[in-house]
Amino acid sequence: MDIQTIGIVGAGQMGNGIAHVMALAGYDVLLNDVSAEALQKAVDTITGNLDRQVGRGKVTEADRDATLKRIVTTQTLAELGQSDLVIEAATERETVKQAIFEDLIPHLKPTTILTSNTSSISITRLASRTDRPEKFMGFHFMNPVPVMQLVELIRGIATDKETFEACRGVVDKLGKTAASAEDFPAFIVNRILMPMINEAVYTLYEGVGSVESIDSSLKLGANHPMGPLELADFIGLDTCLAIMNVLHDGLADTKYRPCPLLTKYVEAGWLGRKSQRGFYDYRGDVPVPTR
Ligand code: CAA
Repeated sequence: MDIQTIGIVGAGQMGNGIAHVMALAGYDVLLNDVSAEALQKAVDTITGNLDRQVGRGKVTEADRDATLKRIVTTQTLAELGQSDLVIEAATERETVKQAIFEDLIPHLKPTTILTSNTSSISITRLASRTDRPEKFMGFHFMNPVPVMQLVELIRGIATDKETFEACRGVVDKLGKTAASAEDFPAFIVNRILMPMINEAVYTLYEGVGSVESIDSSLKLGANHPMGPLELADFIGLDTCLAIMNVLHDGLADTKYRPCPLLTKYVEAGWLGRKSQRGFYDYRGDVPVPTR
């Protein structure tokens, strides 16, 4: 399967990172969002991140310019019709994703591979509601996309070998590493990472350590680049809670019970960096623990 044009639905944090790495690797990118403002913000973010890469000597000015030229933005899903591969990176809500696939499918070529960047929703269930479950799979990037080396590739029950190999070829061309995961709740990375973050919140909740001592323990004691609470703020506490709920519901094991303190932060609208407050308060010059 020859993949040259890649459609990306959703120009948020993940969508703009995916557009960046795909265009840098030489793919033609069609970046879609319902909001013109989100599309402009995405192009500005990509330009800023490419400039930083140029500044650090990782990308040449000519490659930066060619990368930006390869990204075309559109508010119309129909314009993604010519894509060889589509990666949906919209809001992490099943009804939203389903509605996008319904609108998009009539415009696609029969050969187009359809994928989702979902971090936890069942690939098999999403696939079953499309016209091409055998050409559907999970294509899960990590945040920040331009920096993180891993891409999880998740096969639904019906995904065929050609589809999987074509997606693996794309990951290779990006210079990233693919991990193949079966379609069970939260796949591999989040199955392991989120219970660790949830346990860090329990450690705080039970008064075993403060925000700072928990984060420095894992940074200095286990060589993690970020402490678990800092990382939770980076990912978004609403996302962390949603993934814990997927694990709890999907695997029906009490060991995945979301910590009540995590729920409380989400109820307060303290969602981490994106809302300026989470386990840290980001409104000043330096982040300050909120407990
Ligand atoms: N876009 C592009 N480049 C970025 C970037 C961004 N958003 N953020 C940082 N960078 C680049 C920097 O330019 C820098 O590049 P050089 O190596 O060329 O200098 C490099 O990344 C390191 O950045 P910094 O020196 O500014 O900062 P740092 O050393 O503290 O690293 C970090 C920042 C890479 C984010 C690091 O803290 C880290 O790895 N944190 C953990 C991230 C992580 O675990 N992500 C996975 C989350 S889970 C997930 O995504 C799955 C899910 O479904 C929820």
